[in-house]
Amino acid sequence: MAEREKLLEVRDLKVTFGNKRHPFTAVDGVSFDIYRGETFGLVGESGSGKTTIGRAIIRVNPVSGGTIKYDGQIISGKVSREVDHHVIENIQMIFQDPMASLNERAKVDYIVSEGLYNLNGRLSEAERQEKVSRALSAVGLLPEFASRFPHEFSGGQRQRIGIARALIMDPTFIIADEPISALDVSIRAQVLNLMSRLQKERGLTYLFIAHDLSVVRFISDRIGVIYRGKLMELAESEQLFAHPLHPYTRSLLSAIPMPDPVGERDKKLLVYDPAAHGYTPEDPPQWVEIEPGHFVRANERELDAYRKQLGQ
Ligand SMILES: Nc1ncnc2c1ncn2[C@@H]1O[C@H](COP(=O)(O)OP(=O)(O)OP(=O)(O)O)[C@@H](O)[C@H]1O
Ligand SMILES: [Mg+2]
Repeated sequence: MAEREKLLEVRDLKVTFGNKRHPFTAVDGVSFDIYRGETFGLVGESGSGKTTIGRAIIRVNPVSGGTIKYDGQIISGKVSREVDHHVIENIQMIFQDPMASLNERAKVDYIVSEGLYNLNGRLSEAERQEKVSRALSAVGLLPEFASRFPHEFSGGQRQRIGIARALIMDPTFIIADEPISALDVSIRAQVLNLMSRLQKERGLTYLFIAHDLSVVRFISDRIGVIYRGKLMELAESEQLFAHPLHPYTRSLLSAIPMPDPVGERDKKLLVYDPAAHGYTPEDPPQWVEIEPGHFVRANERELDAYRKQLGQ
């Protein structure tokens, strides 16, 4: 297999909120890579730190430990203006709730081109309008929509406006933070199809954040599972579904609805109990690559059991 190029390298990332007396660590020692051109799914329940990681990557949340590298360059912590600019130009974020994330009083024209004002404002008005038209077309919206307001659109169309707003920057890497969670089930597939078409056409790399595994299963090349600020498991999508090791991953899998109604009725939901690991200071959990590309958080005792499971 050809050597894959690492576009993003997150190492021991730590993000702490609050103050010295009441610190709260939302992201606690997270490490993962994202390869150029792939879709990396990040899955975990509400409050597990997914958005915080996305915002740390785009330099909105300060990191309190670890490093983030993009394109071989450190982009976390104090960086030069050039590096800061590089991040603004190359990394874009798409949000869950198109209504809340779009400025209701601004026209689509302004909303879509807002990011361009952060660049060196060397565009002429005609060039800016041309870029808006092209971004709208790329997401399947008519260029004349530019003169309308967000409330005139359906949820799916608003999410397309959100995507156009990212695309206009001609990014390399897009962080999609639950981009379809707020949409009707019937239009989710449309937005997912649009995103994968854009990925193919433009060679985009995605970090796709979601609550549940069923959403990311078919669009992700690899998936990371996060729980309370720590990664529990990371593997290629197929491997994660075929051989889940960590009990939290298993509980997420058990929550996915099955197409067979009989099986669905008899299905047992697995509830994850973090205390059941029984970790001791003598045998603490570590982040281990148990087989090539398959990482799990486990202690020695658990690793022995997992290795047997994998037939090692
Ligand atoms: N700016 C902030 N100040 C203080 N605490 C914060 C801040 N941002 C996030 N947190 C806390 O950090 C934790 C992780 O939040 P985060 O938004 O990253 O979770 P999430 O996985 O994206 O959840 P959701 O699925 O609900 O979007 C939560 O407990 C949250 O309350
Ligand atoms: Mg979030």
